[in-house]
Amino acid sequence: MSGAIAQLKADGVYKKLNYLESPQAARVRMEGRGEVLILSSNNYLGLSAEPSVVEAGHEGLRRFGAGTGSVRFICGTFTVHRQLEAALARFVGTPAALSYVSCWNANEGLTATIAEEGDFVVSDALNHASIIDSIRLAKTITKCTTAVYKHGDLDDLREKLSANKAARRRIIWTDGVFSMEGSIAKLPDLLQIARDYDAILVMDDSHSTGVLGATGRGTAEHFGVVGEVDVITSTLGKALGGAAGGFVAGSAALCDMLTQRSRPQLFSNALPPTVAASALASVEFLETHPERVQTLRDNAQYFRKAIIEAGLNPLAGDTPIVPIIVGETAHAIRMSEMLLDEGIFVTGFGFPVVPQGTARLRCQISAAHTRTDLDDAVRAIANVARRVGLMK
Ligand SMILES: Cc1ncc(COP(=O)(O)O)c(C=O)c1O
Repeated sequence: MSGAIAQLKADGVYKKLNYLESPQAARVRMEGRGEVLILSSNNYLGLSAEPSVVEAGHEGLRRFGAGTGSVRFICGTFTVHRQLEAALARFVGTPAALSYVSCWNANEGLTATIAEEGDFVVSDALNHASIIDSIRLAKTITKCTTAVYKHGDLDDLREKLSANKAARRRIIWTDGVFSMEGSIAKLPDLLQIARDYDAILVMDDSHSTGVLGATGRGTAEHFGVVGEVDVITSTLGKALGGAAGGFVAGSAALCDMLTQRSRPQLFSNALPPTVAASALASVEFLETHPERVQTLRDNAQYFRKAIIEAGLNPLAGDTPIVPIIVGETAHAIRMSEMLLDEGIFVTGFGFPVVPQGTARLRCQISAAHTRTDLDDAVRAIANVARRVGLMK
């Protein structure tokens, strides 16, 4: 193990942890560095430090105590879980929802519960690691057949579904927003394909919930198809307060079956009530303050335009994820460190998170950023890009 770690360090791809001393916000205090501006957080709406969200957590702690002390089906289900799940279902437009301690767990528990031997599961090549692992696990447990279609390639998807017409059931898995590209799934086409091939469409909306659509209801709202996606999974750890937790939203029967059968639900403690209470307050905040989503959208557009005007060439897109490709992983990590020296926290992502040679600085914009924050960030990124020879 120590040899492998030494190698990571020698290759310049070792991930060093940075410790924050203040709440997640546009500007934070970082241990040993003082104030830094964050462009790496999933706190898309700034709700991590929103007073009503923080207070709801305090109230949850006072009312329900520090933890659940149990899995859901034994004695770990609290009334706040029911309230949260009703709010989440209402928000994303499904009949029901079920919470998990993370979206990772929600995804992991889902595929193996809904798939059976004789089923066919097909997944976009750029889907999140939790979806990939969920399908691998389901394949091992259920002996279902699986395949990966080229990213966003609808012809490839159709071909793979066509070749599996005889399967008992077909399941298509996609991200709503692809987290490393900031691109949006072609949802209307995917819905049509699901209808054409009698397939179930499952969408992970972790980077879309609270982000896409006029009122933040996600990818389905963005395309005007709320209520049409069979199953939506998402996280509470990004726009909805940024703490932890995830959920599956779909039919009441699906949520009931997951409660009965999905292994993270059966064998791992329930979402802590404090977290559930904060997430519930986040949903309620968003329902009454949809303008926060517009602020996020305006900020993202402002940053994207400014970074292009500064001479950089981010991946095109329409989300608050603005990736700037820099090539080698070590390059991305070094640039990230140079930016930190300038007081800007932007994480560099490399292999194996993204393919070799496409390492990137992934900028994530928040509604909490001011225009001054965004101007400061653009100036610093352009300076560092010039110093490493990424642009003149
Ligand atoms: C698309 C996607 N799905 C799932 C997850 C996992 O979410 P959580 O942190 O709630 O486990 C993430 C987090 O990075 C994600 O980006």
